Amino acid sequence: MLFIGIDLGTTAVKMLLMDEEGSIKRIVSREYPLYMNDSGWSDQNPDDWWSASVDGIRELIAGFDPNEIQSVSFSGQMHGLVLLDENDKVIRRAILWNDQRTSTECDYLNNEIGRDKLIDHTANVSLTGFTAPKILWVKKNEPENFKRIAKIMLPKDYIAYKLSGVFATDYSDASGMLLLDVKNRKWDSFMLDLIDIGEDTLAKLCKSYETVGTVCERASEKTGLPRSVKVVIGGGDQAVGAVGSGTVVNNMCSVSLGTSGVVFVASDSFKADYEKSALHSFCHATGKYHMMGVTLAAAGSNKWWIEDVLGETDYAKEQTEIGELGRNRVFFLPYLNGERTPKNDPDARGAFVGMSMTTKRSDMTQAVMEGVTFSLREILEIVRNLGINVDTARIIGGGAKSPLWRQMTADILNVRVEAINSAEGPALGAAILAAVGAGAFPSVEEACGALIKVTHVHTPDKDAAERYNKRYKIFVKLYDDLKDTFKLI
Ligand code: XUL
Repeated sequence: MLFIGIDLGTTAVKMLLMDEEGSIKRIVSREYPLYMNDSGWSDQNPDDWWSASVDGIRELIAGFDPNEIQSVSFSGQMHGLVLLDENDKVIRRAILWNDQRTSTECDYLNNEIGRDKLIDHTANVSLTGFTAPKILWVKKNEPENFKRIAKIMLPKDYIAYKLSGVFATDYSDASGMLLLDVKNRKWDSFMLDLIDIGEDTLAKLCKSYETVGTVCERASEKTGLPRSVKVVIGGGDQAVGAVGSGTVVNNMCSVSLGTSGVVFVASDSFKADYEKSALHSFCHATGKYHMMGVTLAAAGSNKWWIEDVLGETDYAKEQTEIGELGRNRVFFLPYLNGERTPKNDPDARGAFVGMSMTTKRSDMTQAVMEGVTFSLREILEIVRNLGINVDTARIIGGGAKSPLWRQMTADILNVRVEAINSAEGPALGAAILAAVGAGAFPSVEEACGALIKVTHVHTPDKDAAERYNKRYKIFVKLYDDLKDTFKLI
């Protein structure tokens, strides 16, 4: 039996073919254009996603018996606005999760409608990347396009629609639209009225591991997938990435050192960060819930430092000179793209502080890794303040390949850090959802238990953790000291 996981990312779609033992048979990836401008607009053409997926699927399954393929599922970049007219024609390019054009709409939602009301209805406040403010933006700036809207979709749901002909979404991805009553898992009529859209423009809500249909005739001809292949709807990339790391049990935590950094906590029951509303409160792909916070430039800061500034590519070599952890005197604020959690500050910028005549290149490299990890600790502290006890975290993303960064994470977050057997995160999570949807495992939790293995464990070093506790306080103070200055830069 074979299962396909499709991870529809921002730069590329990555496809993975897995068997029922969890062994990965092939991985294929296809890139597509991303259109960004200086005003912070970021869009993509949904038909580029589809042609890249069609092309990639053909290569993924070439040479395998197509009748072995049971199902396909998805992980998708979240929050993107895909609009179709009554003839299923794409109305405009999709507005993506990292687009910043909606600050006026977010101010209206957060300040005039009010953060408390938004949290009551959706469990979250409005962020520029979320879907509802984008619909308001289209209504105001492109009224002709707004009038033509017949279907509002999220990115991965467009691919599922093209494959199956079924207009469906899942609770985890829908959570990031600011249109879902996350706690009760239904579209929120107050929000729909506020944004001025009917429920008929929104997809049927399903569980991430639910089969919504099978491959339709046209898609079967294009991709080579048999018509019998089940289409399992999948979920948003963070929730599905958490499935791919086995972060599926109550209070289990994962820390992602990807381009952006994420602290993700699975929860059996609904919880919202009512006081600060700094964390996102979303449905998990397991059928339960999760909370998460995002630092925008995590391994992205490290890449910027090593590749763009130092002009190097050997990350491990740059780390060899790093000395005892917790003794570095240089600090780095990783706000190269502004910051999401907990600052929600698009004006924040990066900073090195504390250099002296004895500062070495490796101290700066260390400061970058530490600054990213301190900013993840700020997210974890909010989680802890909600009374959630986190003592272990699964570490994923490109930065997790570094044993030094893993140990630093254990020391700075003061948690036991577990690295796992697969780095494929969202694509693997999607293949696991496909397997559960096809009935190969009774639940997502059981599939993860069978397929995801811990390979390395790092426990906090008591002395280093103590030193980092002191330095963390200085890190937090530095942003407070600099935040007004950032607005002048
Ligand atoms: C989640 C988020 C990103 C995007 C793109 O809130 O904004 O994870 O889904 O990867």
